[in-house]
Amino acid sequence: MFKYAALLAFVSVVTAQSQLYGQCGGIGWTGSTTCVAGATCTVLNDYYSQCLPGAASSSSTPTTVSSSHSTTTASSTGTSSAPTSTATPAAGNPFEGYTIYLSPYYANEIALAAGNITDSTLKAKAASIANIPTFTWLDTVAKVPDLGTYLADADSIQKSTGQKQLVQIVVYDLPDRDCAAKASNGEFSIADNGQANYFNYMDQIVAQIQKYPDVRVVAVIEPDSLANLVTNLNVQKCANAETTYKACVTYALKQLSSVGVYQYMDAGHAGWLGWPANISPAATLFTQMYQAGGSSPFIRGLATNVANYNALTAASPDPITQGNPNYDESHYINALAPMLASSGFPAQFIVDQGRSGVQNIRQQWGDWCNIKGAGFGTRPTTNTGNSYIDSIVWVKPGGECDGTSNSSSPRYDSTCSLSDADQPAPEAGTWFQEYFQTLVSKASPSL
Ligand code: BGC
Repeated sequence: MFKYAALLAFVSVVTAQSQLYGQCGGIGWTGSTTCVAGATCTVLNDYYSQCLPGAASSSSTPTTVSSSHSTTTASSTGTSSAPTSTATPAAGNPFEGYTIYLSPYYANEIALAAGNITDSTLKAKAASIANIPTFTWLDTVAKVPDLGTYLADADSIQKSTGQKQLVQIVVYDLPDRDCAAKASNGEFSIADNGQANYFNYMDQIVAQIQKYPDVRVVAVIEPDSLANLVTNLNVQKCANAETTYKACVTYALKQLSSVGVYQYMDAGHAGWLGWPANISPAATLFTQMYQAGGSSPFIRGLATNVANYNALTAASPDPITQGNPNYDESHYINALAPMLASSGFPAQFIVDQGRSGVQNIRQQWGDWCNIKGAGFGTRPTTNTGNSYIDSIVWVKPGGECDGTSNSSSPRYDSTCSLSDADQPAPEAGTWFQEYFQTLVSKASPSL
C-alpha cells in the first residue's frame, strides 16, 4: 500500500511538469509550476508564465523577465538573432516614408476573381485592386508561416529597390473569438488550452518577425475583442472570456513591442463605442491595456471601422446614426483621442475605409454582415486631414466574406440573413465573388 502510494506520488510529479512552451504559472493558473528538464518557468506577465528553453530547472519559483526585449527568447525557433533596430520606435507616423507590401494572398484572390469576370471593363477594374494594399489576416496559426514568406519577400524587395517596406498584419486568433457573434468563431477555445495555444501562436509570429528586423511591421490587434468587453459582458461567452482576452492581448502587445511592431488595438467603430455611454468606459479599457502592455511606444494607438462600413467624414449623418453626435469615424476619433491622451495614452489612429465608398445603405447601424450595395472606398493614404489619424487603410480584404447566410452552418449568425445582407453568402473569410464585383462597380472614388 505504501509502495503503491509512493509510486502514485512519483508519477504525478513526473506527469505534472509543464512541457517546453507550456504554461507554468500566472493569475488563475492551477496547473504545474515546474517545467520539464531543459526549460525554465519564466514570468512573461501577471497572467502567464511559460516554460522557455534554458537551464534545466524544476524550481517552482518562476524567473521574472524584466525587460521587454528579453522576452524575444520566447521565440520557438531560436534560429534568429534578437532585433537590433527596434529598441526605440522611429518618431512620428510609422507609415511615412514606407511602401506598403502588397499581400500575395490577396493578390492571388484578386487574380482568380478577375479571371472569372467576362466584362472587360469590370475585369480590368477588378484586377487593379491587387495594387491597393490590404492587411494580411493571421486568422489561424497555420497561416503564420506565410508571414515569414512575406517578410522575406519584402526584405529582398527592400534590398533590391531601396524602398523601405511595411508589412501589414491583423492578429486574430483569440480563444473564444468573436464572443458576441458566431460568424467568425475561431480555432481555439478557452476550455481547451486556448490561452496557451494563443501564446504559442503569438510566439510563432514573433519568431518570424525577429528574423527580419529591417522590415517594418504594423499590426491591428484582435478586431472586436476589447470592444466586446466594453459593451457585451452581458453575453455569457464574453463574460467568460474577459480575463483570457486581456491576458492574451497583453501578451500580444508585449511580445510584438519586443520585436518593434507598431500596433493599433482594434477600437470598434463610431456606431459601437462612439455612443456617449460607451466612449468613456472604452477609453478607460484602452488605457488599461496600453499600460498592461508596458506603455510601449510601439503601441501606437487604435484602429477603427475594421471590416465596417462607416464614412470617415459623412456628408450628413446617416439616419441610422439616430442622434449619436459621433456619427462618423472622424467625430468618434476626435472625441476619443483627447480622452486617451488625458489618461496617459497618446493614441494615434488608423481607419479602415476599404468598404466605405457608399453610404446610407444599412437598415441599422449595428448591421455588419456583407452589406448590400457597398463599394470600395478611399484608397490608403497618410494624407488624412486629421492629425490624430496616421493613415486611412484597407484592413478588411474586400471580397472576403463577413459570414455565411447558411442557417445550418455552425458559424451561422442571423445578422447575415438580415434584409440588408447580401445572400447567399459563404463562410467568413472565404471569397464572395458576387459581393466583390459589386464592391468594384460601386467603388467611390471609382476605379
Ligand atoms: C474572418 C476571417 C478573415 C477576415 C478577413 C473575418 O470576418 O472571420 O477568417 O480572415 O474576416 O476577411
